[in-house]
Amino acid sequence: MRDLKTILITGGAGFIGSHVVRRFVNNYPGSRIINLDKLTYAGNLENLTDIEKKPNYTFVKGDIVDSAFVDKLFLEYAFDGVIHLAAESHVDRSISNPTEFAVTNVIGTINLLNAAKKNWHGKYDTCLFYHVSTDEVYGSLRTTGYFTEETSYDPRSPYSASKASSDHFVMAYYHTYGLPVMISNCSNNYGPNHFPEKLIPLAIHNIKNNKPVPVYGKGENVRDWLYVEDHASAIDLAFHKGKVGETYNIGGHNEWKNIELIRLLCQVMDKKLNRTEGTSKKLITFVKDRAGHDLRYAIDSSKIQKELGWKPSLVFEQGLEKTVDWYLANDKWLNDVTTGEYQKYYKEQYEER
Ligand code: NAD
Ligand code: DAU
Repeated sequence: MRDLKTILITGGAGFIGSHVVRRFVNNYPGSRIINLDKLTYAGNLENLTDIEKKPNYTFVKGDIVDSAFVDKLFLEYAFDGVIHLAAESHVDRSISNPTEFAVTNVIGTINLLNAAKKNWHGKYDTCLFYHVSTDEVYGSLRTTGYFTEETSYDPRSPYSASKASSDHFVMAYYHTYGLPVMISNCSNNYGPNHFPEKLIPLAIHNIKNNKPVPVYGKGENVRDWLYVEDHASAIDLAFHKGKVGETYNIGGHNEWKNIELIRLLCQVMDKKLNRTEGTSKKLITFVKDRAGHDLRYAIDSSKIQKELGWKPSLVFEQGLEKTVDWYLANDKWLNDVTTGEYQKYYKEQYEER
């Protein structure tokens, strides 16, 4: 087991990052966890109030695109581990603003790689750069087959192109300079703290408020959903026990057509809100499809299951109910993130197209 003592987690105020930070702070009291986040619209320190006072936790506000700042941070803290999650993460936003995605996701990653390379010189065997990536880099599946670690990259949205590019840079630093790296490519996450621009939290928010639930196209697209804490547990395992230079695919073996998922969610919401069965599904509204909408993602996670013994802990119906309960119990969180900028985004995305 790798024993890393000063770990930089980037993007730790975001959805997945906050679950990874919490897990590491609680499970590794002997390690110091530094959370670097720019606090964009997607970053929210309210996600971490339960651990913010722990002695092994430090938050630093900053931008991974600022190379001088990143260099200074590496000098100041002498990290021996990096878990890199900071990114622009929403496909629809990448369609409106591809450049922002290239800058954050590609240049930001290169800045971190450069700082690690410089500061870890001579001690590569005791350090690790762990890059968190997505199944979207593999492109779009038809109705059969799975993405494995050997599937060729074929990104089709500006978001996935930027993530694919960052993955290539990570591997290039491994092959060219011997930098100790690892990558994991995960399927769609869901769970608490998910920003309500993404399908599941957006639908929960709209159903709760009796607003139309927008389903792109005919709702035929398929995603493979994984509970966010199961992604965090996979990252923890690979970070500590995975092999340097390897890629691990992480997924839920849990494929849902969007329309079927939304129908299930409507049933759960009817139950939780004490509404007559069938009330929420009347809100389903088919809207203009996403440009270049990938048909299907499905991950073969047998490598991390066999080699490291990882497996998801929750079945989807349990995870979805847990998620709905969290959103219904966390009104303040939801209200805080759906004011201001969110209203503007929502209008542009759903009412003006
Ligand atoms: P998110 O959008 O919720 O969070 C991203 C975080 O990064 C935010 O806290 C934001 O403030 C921060 N950030 C953005 N730009 C930054 C910058 N320039 N400098 C410092 N911090 C910055 O994203 P997420 O859904 O939690 O995804 C996290 C990572 O996991 C991403 O790399 C994403 O590509 C990957 N991923 C996400 C999913 C998913 O289903 N959400 C699945 C697989 C992989
Ligand atoms: O597969 C992993 C990826 O999953 C991550 O890398 C991304 O960061 C993450 O955002 C997610 O991307 P998707 O595009 O799959 O997630 P999103 O929640 O945006 O959409 C899920 C599906 O639902 C997709 O087929 C588009 C559809 N959709 C989405 C929204 C926001 C709708 O039908 N209506 C909507 O309003």
